[in-house]
Formats: sequence, structure tokens, C-alpha cells
Amino acid sequence: MKQGNIIIKNATQLVTCSGFSAKKGKDMADLSIIENGAVIITNGIITYVGKDANCPPLSDFPEHTVVDATGKAVLPGFIDSHTHFIFGGYREEEFSWRMRGDSYMSIMERGGGIHNTMTATRNASFDELKEAGRRRLDKMLAMGVTTVEGKSGYGMDKATELKQLEVMKALNEEHPVDIVSTFMGAHATPKEYKGREDDFLDYLISEVMPEVRKQGLAECCDIFCEKNVFDIEQSRRYLTAAKKLGFKLKIHADEIVTLGGAELATELGALSADHLLQASDKGIEDLANSNTVATLLPCTAFSLKEHYARGRYMIDAGCAVALASDLNPGSSFTNSIPLLFALACIYMQLSPEEAVTALTINSAAAVGKADTTGSIDVGKQGDIIILEYPSYKFLPYHIGMNIVKKTIKNGVLY
Ligand code: NIG
Ligand code: FE
Repeated sequence: MKQGNIIIKNATQLVTCSGFSAKKGKDMADLSIIENGAVIITNGIITYVGKDANCPPLSDFPEHTVVDATGKAVLPGFIDSHTHFIFGGYREEEFSWRMRGDSYMSIMERGGGIHNTMTATRNASFDELKEAGRRRLDKMLAMGVTTVEGKSGYGMDKATELKQLEVMKALNEEHPVDIVSTFMGAHATPKEYKGREDDFLDYLISEVMPEVRKQGLAECCDIFCEKNVFDIEQSRRYLTAAKKLGFKLKIHADEIVTLGGAELATELGALSADHLLQASDKGIEDLANSNTVATLLPCTAFSLKEHYARGRYMIDAGCAVALASDLNPGSSFTNSIPLLFALACIYMQLSPEEAVTALTINSAAAVGKADTTGSIDVGKQGDIIILEYPSYKFLPYHIGMNIVKKTIKNGVLY
């Protein structure tokens, strides 16, 4: 991957989000802002962060591109820590059905939903998936996303799960956006295993998971822990097996029914528990007392016309909250960062400061990368965005509009 040399001068507001781990509770409001700031990136790595007035002279850096950020806010690149961006086909008919009153789960139980996308993904070629994935990554970069997490889970057989993960590996090598891959074979039970969920999990645990690990195709492992999908006991078994193999854990938890997914995530030391629309008070308390990030996906609640997760309550309780798009062809066919900001602030009562933390250092922690990205700190990757306005406060305020003017990834300007 290309590593560039850049100096950003005169940033009206340099929002560093400084830190090397997730911020919890009240700390989420601390953005560590430097007024009239400067940043130097050398060979892709940040080497100076501070006041412009104290910045070493430009004559010391003849190889560096100089970017003037007068009148602009400069922030860390965003991290979209929960997506399913590699998939075949679309589900526009199901969207229409849902608008007429059908529920997401009833469509899935009739063989649509995830099953529909599974068939399309099994039928798609490697190149088709890759080209669609590349187009989606280009849009992410334009909205300031410099790292994205992507899940398998539309194959539910060995060959297709590996195909999805191999597509992400190839894109990670070619595209500037960094991809953190997650194996999510346990996304639903495919029709060939209908009624035999435990046999399907045995198959994933004994035949697919070890192969994914052996080939180094995924860093994390995830499961859809939900009523009529995989219960708590099944989720514990699957995630424990994954942990033994060295995967970091994530979990689709308490999305539609309160099952105790948040509690399970903390019990197993997961990186994150995601969705949490129906998380119990006890689950939230457990999250607050753990290092597991509560990842909230308000675009999904919006799209499914569900109540939003209790973001304000979670932060007040002391949780580390992250925000992510959940981009997928069913429950959230959007990865609009501007929409995410607006929904988080307007409907979950996050402050603009908390929303910025949730999309930078906390989402970096949710993918296990808080040591290398998610903030503007010396030693981290040069992953930075420049807004067309002088303050981060425009991010939720300019509703639905992309105000990212430039994205810098590993010190290269895009
Ligand atoms: O996070 N809830 C389960 N999985 C995805 C949706 C996948 C799909 O509908 O294709 C989610 O919302
Ligand atoms: Fe998801």
C-alpha cells in the first residue's frame, strides 16, 4: 500500500481524538482539539501533531506535499466498524414489502432476507463480487472512511465463505481503504441444514473456521445471536471455539429480542457487541464494566422503523459507544456517514463530540486497531480527513450532506 508524505498547515480546528484505546462515558466528549494546528506525515506515519506556530520549517521537508487547511476542520479518518459490504444481488422487492408492513424477520423466515442474498452470493463470481466491493469502497473513501470492517456470512458453505473473504483480501491489497475481515458463517442456518442448527454450527466449527484461520483470511469472528437464529448457548459454543483458534470476537446482540447477547459479549471478552436495540439494563451495566465496545447502528433502526438503541443511556452508564453503518442489502442498504451522524445525534441524543469519538477512536477499538488508527497521534497511520467547514459540529448539523473535502490515507491524498 502507498505511503505518502504530507504536511497539513493552518488547520483552523485540529480534532485529534487523541488516545490509544476506546473512550468510555464522559471521556467520549473529549476531542483534544488544537486550534491553528499542523500535522506532518512521513512515509505514511504521523510524525508531528501540534500548533502550526511550533511546526518545524517547511524547508526541512522538501519531499512533502503541503496542504493548507485555513478555515477547515481536520479529523482522523472515520472507521466503519460493522458492514457486510461484499454481497451478491439486491433486495429492493423486500424493501417495498417492508414499507407495506412486512417484518424483517418474517421475510427471512419465509426464505427471503439473508437466504435471498446467500443464493445470489453463491451464484456471483469472484470478479463480480470484487468489482461491486471496489465501487462501495470508493464511495466510503469519498465520505472519509479510511478503515472498514467487512463480514462474510452470505455463503454459509465453505467455498462461498472463503470466496467472500478472499475478495476482501484482494481488495485490501489493491484499495487504499484498510479492510478488517470478519468470519460470520453463523449468519443464518442455510436451507440444507434447516432445523439442524447445531449440526450446522458443528460444520462451521470443525470445517470452515479452522480453514479460515489457517489461511489468515479473517481477524474476527461474529454470529447473529437472535431469537429463531442462534440462541445464547449456541452463540457461546461457536464464539468459544473461535476464541480458541485465536479470532477476536464480535456479536450481533439483542437486536430484535432481549436475549442476553450483551452479557455474553462481555463474558467472552469480545471486541464489540453490536446493534443492542433491546439490550437490558444489566447488559448495559456489564458493557460499562468491560472493555467491550457497544457498537450502535442507527441506520438499521431507521431502515427497519425500529426504536433506536439507547445511546444516551449507554454513555451515561459509562459504556464506550461506537457507531457503524451496518451496510448490507437488507436491513441497512446505506453506508452514509452523514446520515449516521444525523441519526446518532438527533435520535440517540449523542452530542456531536460523542458521535465523532464513536466514529474514530472507539470504532478503531471495536476492530482492534486503536493502536494504529482512529486518532491523530504521533506514530499512528496518516489517516486523516479535511472538512469543508471550520468545525466538526457541521457533521451532524449539515444533515445528510457529505462535507468531507479531502481524505488522506497513509499520507496519500485522495
Ligand atoms: O446486521 N442482523 C443480521 N445481519 C445483518 C443483516 C443482514 C441482511 O439482512 O442481509 C444486520 O442487520
Ligand atoms: Fe450486521
